[in-house]
Amino acid sequence: MEKPKVVLGVSGGIAAYKACELLRRLTESGHDVRVVPTDASLNFVGAATWSALSGNPVSTEVWESVHEVPHVRIGQGADLVVVAPATADLLAKAAHGLADDLLTNTLLTARCPVVFAPAMHTEMWEHPATQENVATLRRRGAVVIEPAVGRLTGVDTGKGRLPDPGEIFEVCRRVLTRGPAAPDLAGRHVVISAGGTREPLDPVRYLGNRSSGKQGYALARTAVARGARVTLVEANTGLPDPAGADVVRAGTAVQLREAVLKAAADADVVVMAAAVADFRPAAYATGKIKKKDGQEPAPITLVRNPDILAEVAADRAREGQIVVGFAAETDDVLANGREKLRRKGCDLLVVNEVGERRTFGSEENEAVVLGADGGETPVPYGPKEALADTVWDLVAARFG
Ligand code: CTP
Repeated sequence: MEKPKVVLGVSGGIAAYKACELLRRLTESGHDVRVVPTDASLNFVGAATWSALSGNPVSTEVWESVHEVPHVRIGQGADLVVVAPATADLLAKAAHGLADDLLTNTLLTARCPVVFAPAMHTEMWEHPATQENVATLRRRGAVVIEPAVGRLTGVDTGKGRLPDPGEIFEVCRRVLTRGPAAPDLAGRHVVISAGGTREPLDPVRYLGNRSSGKQGYALARTAVARGARVTLVEANTGLPDPAGADVVRAGTAVQLREAVLKAAADADVVVMAAAVADFRPAAYATGKIKKKDGQEPAPITLVRNPDILAEVAADRAREGQIVVGFAAETDDVLANGREKLRRKGCDLLVVNEVGERRTFGSEENEAVVLGADGGETPVPYGPKEALADTVWDLVAARFG
């Protein structure tokens, strides 16, 4: 089988060095990569590096190998174009259709999905000119990954970092898998909770659960690849931040509720994939609870936590907001699931069949997605991202 053809565009920012790692991931996973750097980017990483790592020729100009018409051929033949890093200048040129070098020509001739991974200083990212250019590119069907927050060049920190190359690779992989289908969640804000809450007893102990957060992260990654703006509210997962998602950290059920309700205020979809503790200790000991010789431990009194899913569903922050819940059932899966869907008042409920094959921590999942409209979509045992894509298919269908 022919290898999928990827064009890796590199524009002139210091994060160009991170694109070497992205290139390595792409080639090692069986993609034929053609690197198209801008002239300015060669100040950061030279053509010899790109050529050696990709095994393909490298040029920045339309005037080299003119008989091969590279300014048209490279874009036409690509299955995916990814620009990482994309500078403010490159985004502006792409949004306005300028074509003064090989990369911008390639962007105009490509008919395949295009992913931009911007990286720049916070001021440049937040400038209305850049934001309008990004909005234009997204409206036209490109996936523009939100930059990460963190250390920038020099002493500055803020939004504008190139996300981890491994995570950009994940976005590319998913966009390639989807093929030429338009990003159907473009312009939508989705809020996803993931992980498991921990309810503290004292400064060193908590009541927790074994949720890994992997299903919620798969939902976040697939939503980014489908063009959504993603807020991921995570509880105790320890997983790397997915590229393009705004990650909010929460520890307890009460903190998770606060973060979800805040993000839900302008959300089109809320997906509660987190395992929220139903109970928390009634009292928190500010000092470590000590054992006492000859004495039985004092019983722990629990109180109910708020049901976030039921609250979000009952009190929708926006008309038409879609609310999705998760449930784990061992017996009478469908009947129990239906009853839970009704009780929680959500639009979709993903019912995991737990039993012999454990779901916690594994890479795979098996489920039935129930709809408030009576729909029933079985998802066979398989990767968590396949289940995530089924959820987004059902959500996108409800947007009409
Ligand atoms: N949920 C929530 N707030 C809680 C508890 C759960 O928002 N305090 C959400 C979870 O994120 C999940 C769904 O509700 O989407 C799970 O519902 P739950 O009633 O806890 O069901 P199960 O986990 O299946 O457990 P059980 O029926 O045994 O209570």
